[in-house]
Amino acid sequence: MCGIVGILGKGPVAWPLVEALRRLEYRGYDSAGIATIEKGRIERVRAPGKLMHLSQKLTGLDLQGTAGIGHTRWATHGVPNETNAHPHIAGHVAIVHNGIIENYRDLKAELMAEGVVFETQTDTEAVAHLLSRELKAGAKPVDAVRHVLARLEGAFALAILFEGDGDMLIGARRGPPLAVGHGDGEMYLGSDAIALAPFTNKLTYLEDGDWAVLTRGGVTIYDASGAKVSRDISHTQASSMLVDKGNYRHFMAKEIAEQPEVIGHTLGDYVDFTQRKVRLEGLAFDWKQLDRLTITACGTAYLAGLAAKYWFEKLARLPVEVDVASEFRYREAPLPKNGLAIVISQSGETADTLAALRYCKSQGQHTAAVVNVPESTIARESDVVFRTFAGPEIGVASTKAFTCQLTVLICLAAAAGKARGFLNAKDEEELISALIETPRHIHEILRGEAHIKEIARKLSAARDVLYLGRGINFPVALEGALKLKEISYIHAEGYAAGELKHGPIALVDENMPVVVIAPRDALYDKTLSNMEEVAARGGQIVLMTDASGAQANEGRNFDVITVPKSHPLVSPLLYAIPIQLLAYHAAVFMGTDVDQPRNLAKSVTVE
Ligand code: AGP
Repeated sequence: MCGIVGILGKGPVAWPLVEALRRLEYRGYDSAGIATIEKGRIERVRAPGKLMHLSQKLTGLDLQGTAGIGHTRWATHGVPNETNAHPHIAGHVAIVHNGIIENYRDLKAELMAEGVVFETQTDTEAVAHLLSRELKAGAKPVDAVRHVLARLEGAFALAILFEGDGDMLIGARRGPPLAVGHGDGEMYLGSDAIALAPFTNKLTYLEDGDWAVLTRGGVTIYDASGAKVSRDISHTQASSMLVDKGNYRHFMAKEIAEQPEVIGHTLGDYVDFTQRKVRLEGLAFDWKQLDRLTITACGTAYLAGLAAKYWFEKLARLPVEVDVASEFRYREAPLPKNGLAIVISQSGETADTLAALRYCKSQGQHTAAVVNVPESTIARESDVVFRTFAGPEIGVASTKAFTCQLTVLICLAAAAGKARGFLNAKDEEELISALIETPRHIHEILRGEAHIKEIARKLSAARDVLYLGRGINFPVALEGALKLKEISYIHAEGYAAGELKHGPIALVDENMPVVVIAPRDALYDKTLSNMEEVAARGGQIVLMTDASGAQANEGRNFDVITVPKSHPLVSPLLYAIPIQLLAYHAAVFMGTDVDQPRNLAKSVTVE
C-alpha cells in the first residue's frame, strides 16, 4: 500500500509534494521520492526509509519545478532500497504507482526482448518502459496512456509526468483509490483526501477504471472504455491539520488515550442519552425481513465483526456468518435472498474488504459499511454507511477505531434486536446505560496504566504468548494476540479458552505467559478452570477480570488486571484497553517502531 501524489502548481512543488507525502506515510514508509520538471527536464530525488530521509536529501537542492509527482512506498516487488524507490523513469516519462501489476513479468520479458534494460526489481518500471515505447513510436501522451492501460492486469493507481509537458499530469485508477484535487489555477492527484487537504477541499474521486488528464485549467476524465465521463466534485471534510502526537511519545499512545472521548462521540450518533435507547431509524433495509447477516473484514476490523456475531445472535436472534475478507471474496459463498452484508474497515480502502463488498452486492445483498473515513471507496460503494467517529487513526495498530467499531456494531445489534422483537425496553435501557458508562470505565482503566506497564515488561521477555477468552471475549483474546505480535514482534496466539486442552496446552510451561480474559460472567468458572490447567503446568498467568474476579483470586501468585464491572455484552469495549496497553508497553520495551511497525502499513490497498 503506497501513497501517491501529483501537483500541477503555480509555484515550486517539491516541498508541497513532501507535505502531501507526510500525510500519506501511514500507507507505507519503506522509501520515498519525488520527480519534478526542472527547465523541461525530469529531475528525481529518492531515499530509502522514512520520509525524513528524502527531506534531508532535498534540503539544499534548488528545485523550482511547478509540476511533479511523489511517492511513499510499501514494498510489494523488490527490496525497499533507493533503486526500487518510486518515481520510476523511462525515457521522458516518470511514474508513481500504488498497487500490483500482475502481468508485469510478461510485459518485462516482452520489453527485454526488444533490448530494454531494467534498473529495478519493481513491477512499476515495466509500465514506465511501455509508456516510453509508445512515445518513441510517435504516440501523444494521452494515446500512449490509453494504449498502455489496456495492457495492464492487476490493481493500480498511477500518476504520470511527461518531460517536455509541464502542464500535464495523467492519473489512472483500477482498484486502489485516486482523487483529483481542484485548486485555483492548480490541479492535484492524490491517494486520498488527507494528502490533498493542505491544497484543496474540492475533490473528484475517480471510479474504478477511470483515468484522468489534468492541466492547470482542469481535468478530462475517461472511463474504462475510453469514453469521456464527468464525475462529481465533492467537498472533503478531511482536515488540513496534520495530526500530531501532542504530548505523547507515539500516536498509538495518544489514540489509546482518546478512546473515552471518541467512543462517546460515536455513541452520540447511535443512542439517545436521555432516553437511554438506541436511535437508528429509516434504514434502507428492514431488520425484520433479514434471513441472515454476513460480516466480513480484515485484521482487527474482522475481530470487531467476530464480536458482532455474538451480539447479533444473542440480541436479535439473527444468524450471522463472519469471515476474513481475503477468504470470503474467493469462496463464492451462497448468500440468502434477504441478506445484509456488513463490511468493516477503518480506512475504507482495504482491497480484500472492498472485493468482498462487491461480491455481496453482486449477490443481491443489502450492503452496509462501518467505516472511519466517510469518503472512502468502501463507503461510497455501500448502500448504507455507519460511521465511526474515531478521528484520524495514524498508528498502524488499530486501537480507537476498533473500539469505535465495537460501539457501532453493538448499537446495530441492539437496533436489530429491538426491531425483531427480541430486545425489550428494559433490557435495551440496561444495555445502553452500560454503553453510556463505557467512557468513564475506560478512564478508570487508563488510570491503572502503570500496573499494566509493569506486566508488559515481563511479557516483553517472552518468546510466545497465549491469550484465552470465551464467548464475547474470544474475539478480544484474538485481538490481544494480534496487537502484541504486530507491534512488538513477539509471537502470540489467541484461543477460545475451551480449546486449550485440544492442543495448545502442550505449549504451556514456565516460559509461557498466558493472558486470561475472564470477567465474572456466566462463563467465568469455565474459563477459570482453563486457567487452573495452565497454572498446574507452571504457565505465567495474567488474569484480566473485574473486582469480583480479582477478589476471588486474591493472593494467587500471578498478575491480575482489574477491569470495571459492566454489562456482560459490553466487556469487549473495556477489555480491549488493557490488551492494547499490554501490547503498546511491551513494544516500547522491545524498542520497536510502535507507530510504523516493520513490514506493515496502515491501509492494505493491495491483495
Ligand atoms: C490492526 O491493528 C491492523 N493494523 C490491521 O489488521 C487492520 O485492522 C486491517 O488491515 C484492516 O484495516 P481496515 O480496518 O482499514 O480495513
